[in-house]
Amino acid sequence: MLDFDPFSLDFHADPYPTYKILRDDYPLYHNERLNFWALSRYEDVVKASLDWETYSSAGGTSLEFPPSVVKMLPPYIIYMDPPRQVRLRKLVSKGFTPRRVASLEEGIRETARDLLKPLVARGSFDFVKEFASVLPMAVIGKLIGFPDSDLDMIREKSADMLTRTPGSSEIPPEAAKAGYKLLKYYLNFVQEARKNPPDNVLGALLEAEVADDAGGQLEKLTDDELVAFAMLFGTAGAETAVKLLGNLCALFQEEPDVLQRIMADTSLLKSATEEALRLLPPSQYQGRTLTRDVTMYGKTMREGDRVILLTGAACRDEREYENPDKFDIDRSIPISLAFGHGIHKCLGAPLARNEVRICFEEFFKLVSSYKIDHDKTERVFMSNVHGYSGIPISF
Ligand code: HEM
Repeated sequence: MLDFDPFSLDFHADPYPTYKILRDDYPLYHNERLNFWALSRYEDVVKASLDWETYSSAGGTSLEFPPSVVKMLPPYIIYMDPPRQVRLRKLVSKGFTPRRVASLEEGIRETARDLLKPLVARGSFDFVKEFASVLPMAVIGKLIGFPDSDLDMIREKSADMLTRTPGSSEIPPEAAKAGYKLLKYYLNFVQEARKNPPDNVLGALLEAEVADDAGGQLEKLTDDELVAFAMLFGTAGAETAVKLLGNLCALFQEEPDVLQRIMADTSLLKSATEEALRLLPPSQYQGRTLTRDVTMYGKTMREGDRVILLTGAACRDEREYENPDKFDIDRSIPISLAFGHGIHKCLGAPLARNEVRICFEEFFKLVSSYKIDHDKTERVFMSNVHGYSGIPISF
């Protein structure tokens, strides 16, 4: 009997372990010890992602926070169900229109270039520590207006806040401390912004009025709700994009033929990014809580039970993808599950895709091949964000 324990995974021995559940053919896996269910097949994950009425996000989306703790956290949109989630999403979407995302392109390119030039000139650097983890935070900073001088602090504290201790479902004291520091920082940031609303997504949120839950009275967003958005952009937005960049850096090195093709034609970066998202989704699972009993594969999950939708497994389901463990940039991926699916589908997906394309376009202007020092790569130990925290490279 497989004991899949998301709190005890050894990512160095086995970086992307969620699909083992699928390989061992547990379409519906139950962990009695930790009291959760897991759906592993592509079709089931897609269906459950669309059925928000049954698979609620209101109890939180990661196993470490039970619904009772989620109630005490800032009101993140990602932990909401409609109608509030729909109203807030409509508002915040204004910050991510195709026009808005396109308008960030030149700024991203300039930042990527400025970061990469001196690093490449050195002959070796850490792709994640010195580049991939810096750029997405700089982009979020531009999007919301965090001062440049605060970006390193936000980045470091966000990583500390998400870091967990292997083998334990407890939140480490350093993570709690970092979370508290960020909350205080964001609260002050939001209160300052209220005095002079900026012309960006935060300004739009500050000015907006949203119908209350009864659907009648119009209300401004509270400080708590604004802090939750700032926190979500600063952590979810930055951390996951870092992992995608790192994964591609590693994959390109493992697949020299793919790298050659991309060097010759950088328009292939788009399909390479989609394939990296499929093969190694930075967010390996999405947690939900059942609002009713559900029977599948001869077992009944009860109302109130927690279920994780294993994106990492679904993306390697051989019922959906031929030769699913292969990094194949020519395959077609009709539904990309790595950004979630359904009403909570990632708002930052177009931005993240653009960032990745621009970063590698600029990187490949400066570098035609590189080596990874595999003995010195490092991985994060976080709840459902998986990937590298360090990839030393040289040319
Ligand atoms: C490679 C990068 C990224 C990955 C893999 C990723 C992944 C995800 C996933 C899986 C979800 C759905 C969660 C669920 O269904 O429970 C999500 C939601 C979300 N993401 Fe991302 N994300 C990325 C980048 C970003 C960026 C750059 C931003 C913003 C600047 C962002 C903002 C959001 C927001 C606001 C939501 C919640 C949407 C809602 O609840 O309606 N993400 N993301």
